[in-house]
Amino acid sequence: MEKKKPPFFYIPLLLPFLLQFLSLPLLSLAFTPLDNYLIDCGSNANSTVDSRQFVGDSTSTGSVFLSAPRSISLRDQSPPQGPSPLYRTARVFTGVSSYQFQIKKKSTHLVRLHFFPFTSQNYDLSTAVFHVSIHGSLLLSNFSVRRSGGNNNNSAVLKEYILMVDSGKLEVSFTPVGTSGFGFVNAIEVFTAPSDLITDVGIQFISPAGAGEYENVTSQILETVHRINVGGEKVTPFNDTLWRTWIPDEDYLVLKSAAKPASRTRPPNYQKGGSTKEIAPDSVYLTAQQMNKPNLSMTLNFNITWSFPVSPGGVRHLVRLHFCDIVSTALNLLIFDVYIYGYYAYKDLDLSTITSHTLASPYYIDRVIDSDDSGFLRISVGPSEITAPPNINALLNGVEIMRMVSAKGSILPSGSKKKHVALLLGSVLGGSALMCVLIIAVVLEMKRRKKKKKTGSRPGETVAWPSWQATGVRSGSVLYERTGSTSMHLGMKIPFAEIQFATKNFDDNLIIGSGGFGRVYKGVLRDNTKVAVKRGVPGSRQGLPEFHTEITVLSKIRHRHLVSLVGYCEEQSEMILVYEYMEKGPLRNHLYGPNFQPLSWKQRLEICIGSARGLHYLHTGSAQGIIHRDIKSTNILLDENYVAKVADFGLSRSGPCLEETHVSTGVKGSFGYLDPEYFKRQQLTDKSDVYSFGVVLLEVLCARPAIDISLSTDQVNLADWAIKWQKKGLIEQIIDRHLVDQINPRSLKKFAETAEKCLAEYGVDRPTMGDVLWNLEYVLQLHQSGVNREPHEDSAPAASELPLPRVIPRAPSTNIRTEGDSDGNSEVSTTQVFSQLMTTEGR
Ligand SMILES: *[C@@H]1O[C@H](CO)[C@@H](O)[C@H](O)[C@H]1NC(C)=O
Ligand SMILES: *[C@@H]1O[C@H](CO)[C@@H](O)[C@H](O)[C@H]1NC(C)=O
Ligand SMILES: *[C@@H]1O[C@H](CO)[C@@H](O)[C@H](O)[C@H]1NC(C)=O
Ligand SMILES: *[C@@H]1O[C@H](CO)[C@@H](O)[C@H](O)[C@H]1NC(C)=O
Ligand SMILES: *[C@@H]1O[C@H](CO)[C@@H](O)[C@H](O)[C@H]1NC(C)=O
Ligand SMILES: *[C@@H]1O[C@H](CO)[C@@H](O)[C@H](O)[C@H]1NC(C)=O
Ligand SMILES: *[C@@H]1O[C@H](CO)[C@@H](O)[C@H](O)[C@H]1NC(C)=O
Repeated sequence: MEKKKPPFFYIPLLLPFLLQFLSLPLLSLAFTPLDNYLIDCGSNANSTVDSRQFVGDSTSTGSVFLSAPRSISLRDQSPPQGPSPLYRTARVFTGVSSYQFQIKKKSTHLVRLHFFPFTSQNYDLSTAVFHVSIHGSLLLSNFSVRRSGGNNNNSAVLKEYILMVDSGKLEVSFTPVGTSGFGFVNAIEVFTAPSDLITDVGIQFISPAGAGEYENVTSQILETVHRINVGGEKVTPFNDTLWRTWIPDEDYLVLKSAAKPASRTRPPNYQKGGSTKEIAPDSVYLTAQQMNKPNLSMTLNFNITWSFPVSPGGVRHLVRLHFCDIVSTALNLLIFDVYIYGYYAYKDLDLSTITSHTLASPYYIDRVIDSDDSGFLRISVGPSEITAPPNINALLNGVEIMRMVSAKGSILPSGSKKKHVALLLGSVLGGSALMCVLIIAVVLEMKRRKKKKKTGSRPGETVAWPSWQATGVRSGSVLYERTGSTSMHLGMKIPFAEIQFATKNFDDNLIIGSGGFGRVYKGVLRDNTKVAVKRGVPGSRQGLPEFHTEITVLSKIRHRHLVSLVGYCEEQSEMILVYEYMEKGPLRNHLYGPNFQPLSWKQRLEICIGSARGLHYLHTGSAQGIIHRDIKSTNILLDENYVAKVADFGLSRSGPCLEETHVSTGVKGSFGYLDPEYFKRQQLTDKSDVYSFGVVLLEVLCARPAIDISLSTDQVNLADWAIKWQKKGLIEQIIDRHLVDQINPRSLKKFAETAEKCLAEYGVDRPTMGDVLWNLEYVLQLHQSGVNREPHEDSAPAASELPLPRVIPRAPSTNIRTEGDSDGNSEVSTTQVFSQLMTTEGR
């Protein structure tokens, strides 16, 4: 069944990139908030400020927002020249009052309150004292503009809040307190934030006790305290993508002579996974402060430090630092450390590797930290110890400091499940018409999930690494030391020099595979162990989460049908995984690869049974309920004896805890194998692996790829096509012609039924891997025992017939027991069983 592959065969592989490309024009449009309420308080006319129209709350349109039984509109009789027209009027409240806004969609919103004290008609606004609250959360208590800096010089005070609105209404309330007896406001802005402005992804909490993942930032009310365009000019709302004001950093520099401004005129290179124009405008990324090195040949070692006034005494803050390498002339030259309060916020930050190997590519990090007692929050950048003298430098482009309005300041966050989102892959692909529909759907989906997209696409963000627990929930993890994070696998560390030796310094002739992650080399260790060496693109932190997942998962589990990890290397910028070498390579190559020798039906069944065992062990064994997420025929490898082993755990993750039924996650996986239910609902269960395994079963039976776009529309998707034939009871018409004479009809029937059940639309209707394994064992029996059974017996084998361990015992060490394998070889040493990892279909 070999076929010529026309050029468009590769379309499925390119589709993710195509989708990204198609979504670009959508993303590059200027931001238009869904909700956009701009109120000019106390005014009976609309006013336009920075091209935005503010509605007077004394007009018929504007008054609907106001619920203030005791309030007056106040007009400044002699307004100063200069300040915004919004500041010529105010609404003065003498009783509890509020503004109410209908919210179209539950999402993060920005709320800005403008206070500009003027004196008019017996009211001196600077004397007002009042509370401001939103939905019962006190944003400002005993607020007085005079005390907040907007005093004698008649300067305005702008308060900005970023908060999740999860009801259909947002209410801002003003309560006058004390002797003043009144409160006021000059203007209010309420608008929907871009969905990626604040996310719960990749945020680190820093404390003296260590660091960990910080969850739930989106459920906090954040008050902007500082917004700084480091090394640059003031950016006014007119020039900002979200009408923000960014001020220069000079006043906050602890030692001005340590810093030297840098700038660039050409626009920044925004990259997927980095920052966006909404997160900060070009002008922030195009200026920076760098180390002021008077003499390039001198070995200067110092930090640049800024000190920002904040509320003292353990008040929790979100610190967002913006970076864009506008100073380097080549990649990988600028590597520096970032500190908050002297703690590492990022060690060895190499922007060029994080942001797709481009310079001048905007990036930001979010860190949560509690203030100390000094009343100042200190941020420093300084050279990394791994940089050499001529390249010593450090830079910072922007700072935002936000106070968490009501966060408790002492609880250390515990890590937990991270929402992974990467490329969304279509599962059902039936010709070009369907493809268009799919593209549109996926583009919409991507837009909708833009917020969540960050994890998968900000590889460098993973400073804290996952460690897996028996419960399946990510535990807290250690920040700072790269070695520390993997210390639990210390025994598996292999020095880089050893790997160079094993691969003859990465000899091209030893390449046995390549893919999204990098290249796979065949190697021989000094003890003559054959290994497969998977080397990430040097210097790239792309795939770092997958790298660590693979180490954590594989270092904990040993099973005859799971490819085992011999070790890994993480020195300097290398990410290398060393596996047992698998002589016969991926299953796929033996089904329809070039120059393949067709496998017999028995061999195929044994391979299916082996991989089902491996998967069953992953799901239920003493391992910890791991979902593989990327089961496909290229991830099932065969050793020299055609023993199947499941490989590539880079996407795998722990299954749901006992009390949960699924893991919410972004869709990852491979075309043609993706569980449609998972695709629709982003809920991952072990039944998603069962679905993918069902596709593999069909591949084994029909000897064709899961997606073959060279075929006619109804045949493109193997699962759809084969199940149609199966439902018609004609499955035998589409099986691999090499099998036609050797396959016994009962065995075929049972096998096809098993595959069909795996492919049930809903996970609940699919069998468990244990059931699948059971059924496949039975298929093998049917095959071997010929035609002596009655048909009614076929559907339910009695348990006594097939003594099968339901839970496969975990192997104690490198010696792996084979559980009643049909070959009868009972003891196999891992050092003799080798695997290779193929990632020929980059994800
Ligand atoms: C003010 O703006 C609103 C909405 O933009 C509009 O409906 C209304 O007619 C305007 N009122 C005046 C007085 O211009
Ligand atoms: C406001 O100030 C008064 C008097 O100083 C104090 O008693 C009260 O607790 C304060 N209220 C809030 C909410 O801070
Ligand atoms: C008011 O402004 C003047 C000139 O801009 C400045 O010298 C003075 O210190 C300011 N006063 C206050 C209280 O900020
Ligand atoms: C996150 O916040 C929501 C809403 O406040 C809360 O229900 C949830 O328990 C929080 N999760 C964690 C892990 O704190
Ligand atoms: C906007 O930016 C441009 C270019 O930097 C500058 O010339 C202009 O004055 C800015 N406008 C405002 C309102 O800040
Ligand atoms: C720069 O450093 C070199 C070597 O340290 C020294 O000879 C030279 O005088 C220095 N130049 C300046 C301007 O400091
Ligand atoms: C930079 O600051 C950090 C944190 O305070 C400190 O540990 C480090 O030694 C400083 N580096 C230099 C070169 O002073």
